[in-house]
Order: sequence, then C-alpha cells, then structure tokens
Amino acid sequence: MEMNIALLPGDGIGPEVIAQAVKVVKAVGKKFGHTINFEEAAVGAAAIDLTGNPYPDATHEVCLRADAVLFGAIGDPKYDNDPKAKVRPEQGLLEMRKKLGLFANIRPTFTFPSLIHKSPLKLERVEGVDFVFFRELTGGIYFGEPRGRNEQGTKAFDTNVYTKEEITRLARMGFEAAQKRRKLLTCVDKANVLATSRLWRETVQELAPEYPDVKVEYEFVDAVAMRLIQWPKAYDVLITENLFGDILTDEASVISGSMGLMPSASVGTENKLFEPIHGSYPQAAGKDIANPLATVLSAAMMFEYAFDLKAEAQAISDVVNKSLSEGIVTEDIAEGAKAYKTSEVGDWLAENL
Ligand code: IPM
Ligand code: MN
Repeated sequence: MEMNIALLPGDGIGPEVIAQAVKVVKAVGKKFGHTINFEEAAVGAAAIDLTGNPYPDATHEVCLRADAVLFGAIGDPKYDNDPKAKVRPEQGLLEMRKKLGLFANIRPTFTFPSLIHKSPLKLERVEGVDFVFFRELTGGIYFGEPRGRNEQGTKAFDTNVYTKEEITRLARMGFEAAQKRRKLLTCVDKANVLATSRLWRETVQELAPEYPDVKVEYEFVDAVAMRLIQWPKAYDVLITENLFGDILTDEASVISGSMGLMPSASVGTENKLFEPIHGSYPQAAGKDIANPLATVLSAAMMFEYAFDLKAEAQAISDVVNKSLSEGIVTEDIAEGAKAYKTSEVGDWLAENL
C-alpha cells in the first residue's frame, strides 16, 4: 500500500517523540512492504513563531492531502500565564479539529503488566482495566456561540450547543466499537441539569434498538468521575460531550499508571489524526529524555484506524511490549535501572520490530 502521512511535530517534546514514531513507521513500511511518504508542517507555538498563526493554511493543506496525520503536542509555557495573549497555540489545535472535521476523539485506557504497579490505584482495581472513551470533539461549549464578554468586560459567557446530528454520529461510533468489544456502552451526561445532556440521552435511547446486542447504561458525569477511580473495570465504551470528555480522559489516562504511554485518535468522515495523550512537556524539550511510546502507539492506532492494517498495528504494540519487558525504556519508567534516551528507544524499536 502507498500511504501519505502528514507530520505535525508541534511544540515541546513533540518533535523528539514524532522522530521516534517515524523510525518505527518506516520500519513497518520495510517489513510489510508499504511505501510511506511523509510531509512535515508547523503547528502550535512553533507555527506562531514562524507565521503568526498557530494553524497556517499551508499546514491545513498538508493535512488535507495526507491519508493520516501524526501529531506531536501543542502548548508553550510562554502563553499559559498570559490570559491576554491574542493568539494562543491551543487555538491552532481547535481550529485544526474543526477544519478537518475530527468530531470523534478516541482515547483508550489499558494496562501494561510491567507498569501496573505505577498505578495510583490498588492492584485489584486496575488489573485488566480496558475501556475506551469516544469524546465528541468539534461541538459543545468549546465552539458554541455566543461566547465572550460584555462591553465592560465584567461578565463572560460560553455556550453549550449540540445538534442531534452531532450526537448521533459520535454515538454510532461508540455503538459500533462496543459491538466489537464487550458490548457495553455508557452514555455520560448531566441530564439531571442540562438541556444538551437531555438531548444526548434521548438521542442515544432512540439509537439503542438498532444495536440490540449492546447494553446501554446512562450515568451522570460526576458519578462517572467517581466510579472511574472506584471500579474502572465497570466500563467498556464511554461516549460523552466535548468538555466532559476533556476532563474524564485526563482522569482516565493516569489510572493504568502509564500516562506517558496512552495514544489517541481523532477521526471524522474525511480525515484522521493520531496523537499521544500527554502534552508538550516543555521541561523535557530538547533533552532527549521524553518517553516516545505514546506517539509510537499512536502510530499503531494509525495503521489500524486509518489503513485497516491490524497486523502492522499489532507488530508495533508487540515491539513496545518487548521494549518494556526488556527494560529499554526512558527515565520516567526506568526506576533506578539504566535509562535510555528517547532516540535510543526509537532506534531499538525500529531495529526489533
Ligand atoms: C486535549 C487538550 C485540549 C482540549 C487543549 C490543549 C485545547 O486538553 O486535547 O484534551 O482541551 O481539548
Ligand atoms: Mn485535555
């Protein structure tokens, strides 16, 4: 197969972890006989420095041309403490999601046996945890209008808006994923308070008869925040709106003890983007110490979700597991044993794939 991949390294450790994923993707191409073309483009603070725009048109075009986008991270501390900054790196991310129509953000949480002791939860609660969030990504309070301030600047407002269509397309993806997994779907909302949430619940209830093999549960977001910690094994597929998903997926990402390892996919009807869940980790930028595994596993998701190549995806997760069990790991998980550099881990993975 011939594949065109857009590379958007972004900020902080983004460029270093993307470089390792590229090594692994190239090794996959060689092993399985695929021709893989890469095209790189700027995004985030890196793009602001170059062009004044966190998501330049040229970058958008590179993404549109590509079959899949591999994205590093966005964010720079110089903008975080300046609420008055006119352009922000995060605007680039939101604009990219919207323009590429990436309405579903898929964030799995699963465990690695060799890292499970690093979970903040007791072993019996976390062993075997395996669930996946489908977070709506281009609607809700992140994009709803009106938003802003009154004239005096003394009052601010954001608007939460959802259409039935937006809920339906996200919910269908969740139902279909549940059918291929343990057949349990949890709709996370705040239907006891919010009109938007009541529309979510109503829409999911209407769709449910089309998926008779899937059991559907409805839970309030505050209760899910609690139960995710108490008994995360209760979940299989969770669907939720943009803001709830933002919050809960951060909570979910630490449960397994492997936050630095969790990949994600953002998909729409036309475009697909793959990125690690961790952020730009500016303190580590340029030091060759960041853990590249989440980005490498995002590349595995890319083979599976963008190209339907399961053996390729499996080969990547196998070699990642091998690196973990043989201790070819960066300092964040080395625990006193020898720590390898970001680039060394990437080389090892590519060689051992
Ligand atoms: C995420 C991030 C973004 C979000 C920020 C950087 C805009 O937290 O991908 O979860 O809130 O969606
Ligand atoms: Mn977030």
